[in-house]
Amino acid sequence: VNPDIFAARVLAWFHRHGRRDLPWQQQPTSYRVWVSEIMLQQTQVRTVIPYYQRFMETFPDIRSLAAAPEDQVLHHWSGLGYYARARNLHRAARQIVEKHAGRFPARFEEVLALPGIGESTAGAVLSLSLGQRHTILDGNVKRVLARVFMVEGWPGRSPVQRRLWEIARQLTPEQEVAAYNQAMMDLGATVCLRSRPDCAGCPVMDCCQAHGQDRVRDFPGRRKA
Ligand code: ADE
Repeated sequence: VNPDIFAARVLAWFHRHGRRDLPWQQQPTSYRVWVSEIMLQQTQVRTVIPYYQRFMETFPDIRSLAAAPEDQVLHHWSGLGYYARARNLHRAARQIVEKHAGRFPARFEEVLALPGIGESTAGAVLSLSLGQRHTILDGNVKRVLARVFMVEGWPGRSPVQRRLWEIARQLTPEQEVAAYNQAMMDLGATVCLRSRPDCAGCPVMDCCQAHGQDRVRDFPGRRKA
């Protein structure tokens, strides 16, 4: 697959079918995108939206989040689960106030150093908010790439993970990275579903190796018991 063609198809699909009206996409500051990405790590968009809106009303910026007592932050999280996410968010806000004068850092390494932020989330925040060119690879994107390139093995294994990152990097376009990254996440979340994928609605169906061999259900590989 030619990376330029792949990206062009994904972008064309995004402009017609992607989600562009989510609350964090309005004034997409790094802070707003960061909070949304943490909430979206284990929770679906539909569930996140009301939590996100209440969170932003109470903690409209990094300083207000950093100044809040932890139990108030956890209270706003109750119902979302995985409370380590909220504790890390709060710790990170305090770290940003101390080390970065309350402004969300714009350098990848500084973002990666914050608690609760891995490589994919750092890339998502800096690409979606500032347009920086970074590759993302969350669970949804892994599923898309494992199918298109028939990457064998369970993505939790490090050789499989490394292969997926390599593919993801090669496909990341020079231009329109924010739209491309959002498009890949949307494609995984709305079309390339784990069960019942809508291959007919997929912009990269004709370059999908798993689809070509009628083996979409075999990817990504499952963890061996
Ligand atoms: N899951 C994680 N990040 C997401 C995003 N930005 N949009 C949709 N789903 C997501």
